[in-house]
Amino acid sequence: MTVHKNLQINKEGRLKHFLSTEGLSRELLTEILDNAENFAGVGERAVKKVPLLRGKTIANLFFEPSTRTRTTFELAAKRLSADVLNINIESSATKKGESLLDTLQTLEAMHCDMFVVRHANSGAAHFIASLVSSGVRIVNAGDGRHAHPTQAMLDAFTVRRHKGSFSGLKIAIVGDIMHSRVARSEIHAFNTLGVKELRVIAPKTLIPAYMSALGVKVFHNIDAGLKDVDAVIMLRLQNERMQGALLPSADEFFKMYGLTEKRLENAHPDVMVLHPGPINRGVEIDSDVADGARSVILEQVSYGIAIRMAVMSMCMGGSE
Ligand code: CP
Repeated sequence: MTVHKNLQINKEGRLKHFLSTEGLSRELLTEILDNAENFAGVGERAVKKVPLLRGKTIANLFFEPSTRTRTTFELAAKRLSADVLNINIESSATKKGESLLDTLQTLEAMHCDMFVVRHANSGAAHFIASLVSSGVRIVNAGDGRHAHPTQAMLDAFTVRRHKGSFSGLKIAIVGDIMHSRVARSEIHAFNTLGVKELRVIAPKTLIPAYMSALGVKVFHNIDAGLKDVDAVIMLRLQNERMQGALLPSADEFFKMYGLTEKRLENAHPDVMVLHPGPINRGVEIDSDVADGARSVILEQVSYGIAIRMAVMSMCMGGSE
């Protein structure tokens, strides 16, 4: 799809909407990480709030299921002192045939300042950002196979916290690259932030043909792909977006690509293991690895709040 690069930034070059990591500068991505660093301590205070978005109203519009992203967006907005509306799509007027545009206009009439949107259609967040009034901000919480930019940024934040910087790092993304909005957003983010080497590891049926053009090394053998990497990001099989049988079975996938302690021996001794969740134990990752000392999976969830606070406050802080 076409990425409308300029839709995300205002005339002063500040973040206006957060729709994709693609097309944003290293300076802006680093500013998100630095701001998140300042917000990371808020959750540890006795009063877990800062007044930055007091008086603002944020609506969470999730047209697809979510545990981590929806709840951490809600917590982030509340910690910024915003008023939060969680729209229950199952019981909303969209179930009676109302269009997305009409639902948005209805919420805009209630003077919402920001919509956090998850939608099954790639491009939905850009579409909405192109339609809302100039004072309203849009944050993409995952659109189809296209982008999940706050997930990519919280993964980058987790890596930077452990490794200090990106410049000398080799990072591998393993699993269902084909259907993954997380992988796409991570590739743009990590390349922009300047990692040394980015790899994707998957069977041929789960890697899109254009991958090498994005500046990543493609591996079909996991043991070769994991050699000396500093961080491994595992992805689940996104069966809900697969059309037809792309794999023999989940068991077969685990045998060929599942991350085990044995396979991790190929990586750098200080390798860290990430997973955006939801995790499927015994399909893409062994429980010993998911719960092991190298796993930062639950840290990622915590950092999601700080990253989302950073993104929401930056989008709200810019001029129209
Ligand atoms: N990583 C992620 O998007 O998880 P949820 O589907 O639980 O939000």
